[in-house]
Amino acid sequence: AVPSILRVPPSLLKLNNGRHGRPAWTSYYGRVYDVTAYLPFHPGGEKELLRAAGRDGAKLFEQVHPWVNWESMLNVWMVGVMVDEQDADA
Ligand code: HEM
Repeated sequence: AVPSILRVPPSLLKLNNGRHGRPAWTSYYGRVYDVTAYLPFHPGGEKELLRAAGRDGAKLFEQVHPWVNWESMLNVWMVGVMVDEQDADA
C-alpha cells in the first residue's frame, strides 16, 4: 500500500501542539511527525519533548542531542510534509 502523506500548513502544525488533548506534532527539516505516542518514552522527558510540539523542533533538537538519529527514530510517526498555507490539503 502507498502511505498517505498529508500536506501540512503552518497553522495545522501549530494547532497540534500536544495541549488540550490534541496530538503533539513536530517538524524536522520539512517533515512532520506525530510524536504523541513517543512522549512517555522520550529519555529527556515529556516536558522537554513538548517544547518542540506545534512547531519546528530542529534547533532545540540540535542543541541537546545532535548525535540522535531523528530520521530513523521518527520514521514510523511521519504524518506529512510542510507546505505553504495556501498549498495545504483541504
Ligand atoms: C535525550 C530522542 C526531542 C531534550 C534523548 C535521547 C533520545 C532522544 C534517544 C537519549 C540520548 C542519549 O542518551 O544519548 C529524541 C527524539 C526527539 C527528541 C526522537 C524528537 C521527537 C527533544 C527535544 C528536546 C529534547 C525537542 C527539548 C529540548 C532531551 C534532553 C535529553 C534527551 C534534555 C537528555 C536526557 C538526559 O540524558 O538526562 N532524546 N528527543 N529532546 N532529550 Fe530528546
